[in-house]
Amino acid sequence: MAELYERLEEYRDSDYYPFHMPGHKRNKESAAGVLADVYGLDITEIDGFDNLHCAAEILKKEQERAARIYGSEASYFLVNGSTSGILSAIAAVLKRGSRLLMARNCHKSVYHGVYLRELEISYLYPDIWKECGAAGEMLPESVEKELRECSDIGAVLVTSPTYEGVVSDIKEIALIAHKYGKPLIVDEAHGAHFGLHEEYPESSVKLGADIVIHSLHKTLPSMTQTALIHVNGNLVDRGRLERYLRIFQTSSPSYVLMASISSCLDIIEKEGKERLGRLKEARDYLEKELSICNYIKIGKKAPQIDGPKAALDPCKLVMYAEKGRISGQQLYHILRNKYHLQMEMAAGTYVLAILSPMDTRSGIDRLCRALLEIDKSIKKGDKGIGLGGKMMPAAADKADTVLPLTQAYDMEQESIELEKACGRIAAEFINLYPPGIPIAVPGERINENIIKIILAYRNADFHVQGAEKGKIRVIKECCCSV
Ligand SMILES: Cc1ncc(COP(=O)(O)O)c(C=O)c1O
Repeated sequence: MAELYERLEEYRDSDYYPFHMPGHKRNKESAAGVLADVYGLDITEIDGFDNLHCAAEILKKEQERAARIYGSEASYFLVNGSTSGILSAIAAVLKRGSRLLMARNCHKSVYHGVYLRELEISYLYPDIWKECGAAGEMLPESVEKELRECSDIGAVLVTSPTYEGVVSDIKEIALIAHKYGKPLIVDEAHGAHFGLHEEYPESSVKLGADIVIHSLHKTLPSMTQTALIHVNGNLVDRGRLERYLRIFQTSSPSYVLMASISSCLDIIEKEGKERLGRLKEARDYLEKELSICNYIKIGKKAPQIDGPKAALDPCKLVMYAEKGRISGQQLYHILRNKYHLQMEMAAGTYVLAILSPMDTRSGIDRLCRALLEIDKSIKKGDKGIGLGGKMMPAAADKADTVLPLTQAYDMEQESIELEKACGRIAAEFINLYPPGIPIAVPGERINENIIKIILAYRNADFHVQGAEKGKIRVIKECCCSV
């Protein structure tokens, strides 16, 4: 039962007058339309509503419910997104100045965690999903190699599934990390629906990871910013984790967001399996219908993990035109402008759609019809524009790290023309956004290839954070003799 939500409704309908925060005082005149109704539920930690930062009553019960659903030993609500969970996880398991073995294709929040904790980095490079040029899985043997060769690694952090839905063999990676006595953190932000239905990949919570972070808002019915962090085993000090959750989360957690988590857990418990089953059927139907297309393809990956578990998340739909006859961007714009179908992201070669158990069959039918029509309009000699259907490296190039991120990010910097940056050291992150994965990290030497990649993205109208207006920030030459 969404007990928190119901208690908030009861309170809203009661005669209690609020001489407390928030300043809108649940007064309908505070906001227009439906927002005014939401304000009615928006309270602070008053009597009867517990406190997220030392949950003992209703929020404790709700968090225990999350733990039961996902099979963790302990779960915590996050109201500042997976970002706050990732920052807390990193700070909780790694001593200041120690070393993190992390996937190069990690979300920027992991890099921010590294910066704040002043960590050294060892990188794991993902395999490339050759069909579309996106980052593929993280191979367990790369994890083993790094842990064998570098004794000062304090923890391992990987992203699974990736933004595009590629799932790594977390069971094997966890076994390897534990063989070396290291905790494994899995950024499963895009996999909050994992483990809830047998036709979807298993959740890392059940595959041996020590900490798993889920963005509920990405693939489940929950409001933006809502997420969960799960903990298992004895390699993580829960007290330290709770301390960092207090540091990295607001001291005024939104009850509207927490009620949304509670209501999401309710849906998962009551209808999650059925809805996920229906979604899988709809996706299978879509793939079958599209199999007659001459050019439009749906990204596939042979299962590499034993048993029936998928190596690709059914909630991610990677669509592309064979031989780059139209680019990812063209397909994205046609779907948006002509069919009013808003995709999650366009890359050079492909377009990404996110499906969820709340999708309607009519929405999926619209996408199916649009893709069939677009396929018919493509001609044999067509060539994609924008990035021209070119595959761009997906965090696969080895980083040329000259200075540790922590040091470089705080050094004196200057802004220079991108074309003149070859040989200079990056002072800011340069991220393709979305997905927010770095092309260059502060402290890394900028080479011709990086400039070529940024220029290609910029010329094709992609948003490259840190390279706005054709300039990037580099460390002042007088500050570094490297
Ligand atoms: C892989 C990955 N991890 C973490 C995050 C951060 O999640 P949130 O937006 O919930 O803070 C994102 C956001 O897009 C992401 O793609």
